[in-house]
Amino acid sequence: MIVSAPTDFREAARRRLPRFLFDYIDGGAVTENTMKSNSAELASVALRQRVLCGVGEPTLHTEILGSKWSMPVALGPVGATGMYARRGEVQAARAASKVGIPYTLSTVSVCPIEEVAHGADGELWSQLYVLKDRGYMRNALERSWAAGMKSLVFTVDMPVPGSRYRDNRSGMSGPRATLRQYLQAITHPHWALNVGLLGRPLSFGNIDTYSGRKMSMNDYMGFIGSNFDPSIGWSDLEWIRESWKGKLIIKGLLDPENARDAVRLGADGIIVSNHGGRQLDGAIPTARALPRVAEAVGDELTILADSGVRSGLDVVRMLALGAKGVMLGRAYIYALAGQGEAGVARLLSLFAADMKVTMTLTGAKSPSQIGSDCLEKIEQHIRAEREPVKATGAPALPHAA
Ligand code: FNR
Repeated sequence: MIVSAPTDFREAARRRLPRFLFDYIDGGAVTENTMKSNSAELASVALRQRVLCGVGEPTLHTEILGSKWSMPVALGPVGATGMYARRGEVQAARAASKVGIPYTLSTVSVCPIEEVAHGADGELWSQLYVLKDRGYMRNALERSWAAGMKSLVFTVDMPVPGSRYRDNRSGMSGPRATLRQYLQAITHPHWALNVGLLGRPLSFGNIDTYSGRKMSMNDYMGFIGSNFDPSIGWSDLEWIRESWKGKLIIKGLLDPENARDAVRLGADGIIVSNHGGRQLDGAIPTARALPRVAEAVGDELTILADSGVRSGLDVVRMLALGAKGVMLGRAYIYALAGQGEAGVARLLSLFAADMKVTMTLTGAKSPSQIGSDCLEKIEQHIRAEREPVKATGAPALPHAA
């Protein structure tokens, strides 16, 4: 399939993958409204067109959390990536390292930490969920550090998995899931041979040791359901802060008060995120949450953002709303599933080209010049109106019956 735009990779992935896997990536929680509103809200962010600024060729190079990135974009953590492409985590990490941006390995990856670290020589980040077994977490921290991963993304918006009805409908979970998965696999022979057979995906590198056996996709869904810890609080994060010497980035915050808690914890960064609309359906889109969070803590730690980013133009919008860098999720997973490492490389080059055009037309020479003054004033005005009205001390009006 010929890809002309970053969004074309979604169709490439849909053709290549058995339905249960495509829907697992593509779907969100409950009505999927938050998932859809992430992209819709970003698309509604109007940028100021400022021409004749003598921008020349803009640079995308930037420094984030003490390291140099070739553009303000990183690949975020996505579970089971080795299910979508053969040894998919290694392929994605390689694409990121060739471009000069970080890759984040999920807790629930097919390839273990050591395989990814061996397969790609760029900057690698490790992502961790709070699991009930803190011994496992300690072990994961040690292995990540030993493998050279010096930044830890700690995801806090998944104390329980969101309700994703699409997974039941498509055969990812629910009745006769295994049979349905086999039937779908044999009608996708390219995937069945290259990934299902040769990719050895029936193993979750980082958690097989924890569970004591190789896991099927159904076991994986069960593992997520029963080992995530809904009792987590900020005190659980304190020992992580104390025992992790590297950068600590808290992922999954939308609320300014939570962002202040992250500052108090001593986090180096946060990722403003609603998990791509896969967790709390009804949560506000990231693009709407971002300016408030940036205003609250933007001077105190590094703010990254994700959810709904599908183009270089969207990256510029996120930066204008207050992020220093942007994490990709589905955008690069579609590319990986559709065309492997080459697909991710192509996606990133399309993003870079798109960012340069957008920056030239908005008068920004470098990512550090993209800020709230790149937003149309009318846009700032609308956003200000959305802010909750401050309490005036006036007596509350009685509710209508
Ligand atoms: C995710 N995400 C995720 N996040 C995380 O911290 N650990 C994980 O293991 C996963 N796994 C995962 C699987 C799949 C299939 C998807 C689509 C997403 C969330 C991810 O890092 C990111 O927050 C969202 O993907 C961002 O939304 P968009 O840009 O994909 O819409």
